[in-house]
Amino acid sequence: MKHIAVYPGSFDPATLGHLGILKRATKLFDEVHVLVVHNPSKQPLFTSAERLNMIKQSVRELGVDISPLRFSTLESGLLAEYAEVHGAHALIKGFRTVADIEYELPMSQVNNDLSGVETIFMASEPGLGYVSSSLVKEVAALGGDISKYVTDAVSQKIQEKLNAS
Ligand code: COA
Repeated sequence: MKHIAVYPGSFDPATLGHLGILKRATKLFDEVHVLVVHNPSKQPLFTSAERLNMIKQSVRELGVDISPLRFSTLESGLLAEYAEVHGAHALIKGFRTVADIEYELPMSQVNNDLSGVETIFMASEPGLGYVSSSLVKEVAALGGDISKYVTDAVSQKIQEKLNAS
């Protein structure tokens, strides 16, 4: 049986923290769907297509094996339903601190109620536990160096976006 997982998130943009989790997930599953999810409670800087493209470019830049990866977006509908339709048994969630677990725990339980899908929590790499997409955007907007937190591809896209605004 093929073991399939979905790695969902807003990824606005994906940081090196997200990409580290993704790389490690490919070692555990035969197929990993990177799913850019529209979160109506957030006002994203990038469109879903732009976010997905940045992940593809970042994966290439980091030399991650792309053969187990599938890339998709979810503009509406349930994550649990996406997992069910695509035969995925697991959702991958990265956690940085206990606060992430508190936020993620009810979602994992509801997703399990909805479709039986399991959530696998992976601890973020030491040293990247304080990185978030919002912080990266804020530092970049204020002229700070974000090269420790994101790939060159993402860094470049953020600069383009900021210059255009
Ligand atoms: N490294 C760096 N940052 C990380 C990280 C890691 N390993 N893991 C999480 N983060 C950060 C993100 O950067 C983000 O930070 P930000 O708020 O500063 O942007 C934050 O943690 C939250 O992660 P994000 O990927 O944005 O998740 P989310 O909370 O927006 O979305 C979904 C979670 C999309 C998976 C959830 O809303 C969902 O499932 N939606 C689909 C609809 C649905 O099924 N709803 C019912 C759910 S039970």
